[in-house]
Amino acid sequence: MIEFTQSEFLVETEVPHDELIISRTDLHGRITYANETFCAISGYEEHELIGKPHSIVRHPDMPSSVFTELWETIRQKKQWKGVVKNMRKDSGFYWVEALVSGVYRNGELVEFKSLRTPVDYETKLYHQRLYDKIRKEQGEKQRTVIYR
Ligand SMILES: Cc1cc2nc3c(=O)[nH]c(=O)nc-3n(C[C@H](O)[C@H](O)[C@H](O)COP(=O)(O)O)c2cc1C
Repeated sequence: MIEFTQSEFLVETEVPHDELIISRTDLHGRITYANETFCAISGYEEHELIGKPHSIVRHPDMPSSVFTELWETIRQKKQWKGVVKNMRKDSGFYWVEALVSGVYRNGELVEFKSLRTPVDYETKLYHQRLYDKIRKEQGEKQRTVIYR
């Protein structure tokens, strides 16, 4: 079982429709840039994010295989698109559709970038169920969820 000490893990932060959450990382996934919206939605100050692994916002509901696929895709210099549940500093959560791809300088891959937009309720529901199923199949820790 995953143990939470705060009840904020039940609180969702909605991503505004007119804003983009933007970040960049070095080739190892350490954050090199976070825009204001990313800071506001994740609840972190900019200085708390810069230099940290991007997994700082990883939510325990996310299956590992999603990120394995993300890294395989972007290392092949392709763009990865997916729906991600992230965790805020206060343990609340927010859902995004993320587009992750390389940043090139003189044709050389130097960083990765991610642009994130809001997702609708149906998409969140679909992915929550999908990710619960994948985590179960892959023997990862489970939340207790009862579907009626
Ligand atoms: C540009 C970029 C953006 C990323 N954005 C996120 C993100 O928003 N949330 C997340 O959990 N992981 C994100 N990742 C993946 C993390 O690097 C990491 O693989 C993931 O959080 C799983 O953590 P772990 O590999 O330590 O298990 C991103 C990676 C890159 C390169």
